[in-house]
Amino acid sequence: MSKVYTEPALAALARTIAQTLAPGDNIYLSGELGTGKTTFTRYLLEALNSPTPASSPTFQLIDEHTLPNNQVVAHLDLYRLTAPDDLYTSGVMSYINDPQTISVVEWPERGEQLLPVPKHHLHLAHRDEQSRHLTIESK
Ligand SMILES: Nc1ncnc2c1ncn2[C@@H]1O[C@H](COP(=O)(O)OP(=O)(O)OP(=O)(O)O)[C@@H](O)[C@H]1O
Ligand SMILES: [Mg+2]
Repeated sequence: MSKVYTEPALAALARTIAQTLAPGDNIYLSGELGTGKTTFTRYLLEALNSPTPASSPTFQLIDEHTLPNNQVVAHLDLYRLTAPDDLYTSGVMSYINDPQTISVVEWPERGEQLLPVPKHHLHLAHRDEQSRHLTIESK
């Protein structure tokens, strides 16, 4: 069932989800342009005390953040991936399958069926300027 989230509510959700994360977990973020995937990632990194912020907009495929406890969080934006092979040649798949790295993946549908089932899959949709519809599937 989808619920409505303002941006502060999304930030609170990111703090809750941050507490559930263990090394190797993956989070997938689906939704049209501008629905808040990078915004969620920014709040998640803040909640995890990342010294580096989510870069927005992301023009890069892979943005690595190392937390004070040395946990690595990989922010992966697959928007520009065209062929499934790119998942392997770009190194994206190594991050997602790494048992130590937490991967946060925007546009996971670009990976078609090749990506493993994530711990959390958020589906964001536009509602109005201040709010979004959000459904969460968790393992
Ligand atoms: N309830 C909300 N949740 C998330 N973002 C919101 C909300 N209300 C307004 N916004 C704004 O919407 C914008 C979302 O942009 P963001 O870059 O996070 O989208 P995106 O899904 O990552 O897009 P892209 O597919 O281009 O990467 C931000 O400017 C954010 O401040
Ligand atoms: Mg984005």
